[in-house]
Amino acid sequence: MVLKVLNKMNVIVCGAAGRMGREVICLIEKSAGLSLAAAVDPAGGEGIYQTLRDYTGPADVMVDFSHHSAIREITAYCETRNLPLVVAATGHTQEETELIQLAATRIPVFMSANMSVGVALLAMLVKQAAAVFHDCDVEIVETHHNRKADAPSGTALLLADIVKSERPDALYVCGREGNHKRKSNEIGIHSLRMGNVAGEHEVIFSTDSQTISLKHQAHDRVLFAEGAVAAAKFIVGKPNGLYRMEDMLEE
Ligand SMILES: NC(=O)c1ccc[n+]([C@@H]2O[C@H](COP(=O)([O-])OP(=O)(O)OC[C@H]3O[C@@H](n4cnc5c(N)ncnc54)[C@H](OP(=O)(O)O)[C@@H]3O)[C@@H](O)[C@H]2O)c1
Repeated sequence: MVLKVLNKMNVIVCGAAGRMGREVICLIEKSAGLSLAAAVDPAGGEGIYQTLRDYTGPADVMVDFSHHSAIREITAYCETRNLPLVVAATGHTQEETELIQLAATRIPVFMSANMSVGVALLAMLVKQAAAVFHDCDVEIVETHHNRKADAPSGTALLLADIVKSERPDALYVCGREGNHKRKSNEIGIHSLRMGNVAGEHEVIFSTDSQTISLKHQAHDRVLFAEGAVAAAKFIVGKPNGLYRMEDMLEE
């Protein structure tokens, strides 16, 4: 009898001491096909490497749930090691986004500001609604826990970009104050920060006669860890390029 030995996929987790990094590590430890190659976080701690440079052992893929400012170090490391990368951290500047796009010409990169399948469905519905209601008022409201640093959330911006793809003159207005009327091409984006909310996104389309509201609520942040782990499995073995949730859902 020939026994087939399946090698486990070795995953490096960046931001390992953070809320999301810890969730990803829990999932890896429970998954038969995955193994934790290295946990990396400047906070350090038992079994945690403080910088990527400290880890040179085997690895098949990296999941980044750290901080947007770490992306230069992360892409350089992955490019040097020819390692597929899942970018789950959000809040990247234009320059950092360009670094990710450049990295995707050299290694496979999966990127999504929201790793949940439910949000991918929300995005599809938002695109449909924006195509039908192309001249109504659009407002986006996002709510997250009080420890989230970046605002608006990466997902709110992703949803705004989807609306903008159907109305190119759209103008983003983050928060609203002062004494002037709303312009018809505005997409209002509003960020609430409170308690322990895992993540809520609502896109509202309103005309003088009706309102359509599309909303996703994450009940537990393990949802995003599950999506990132699925993305890590999806991206290993893929040609270089930038992959999104839609690509994984299509497959
Ligand atoms: N795509 C999605 O679906 C999704 C879902 C949830 C969250 N996120 C994003 O994922 C990121 C992490 O979220 P979180 O809630 O887990 O935040 P968190 O609890 O603050 O964890 C982030 C961790 O990354 C560490 N870190 C900072 N710079 C690093 C570096 N250069 N290398 C390795 N680790 C580094 C931080 O250490 P220090 O505290 O010492 O700086 C911290 O321990 C955020 O950008 C968040 O917006 C994305």
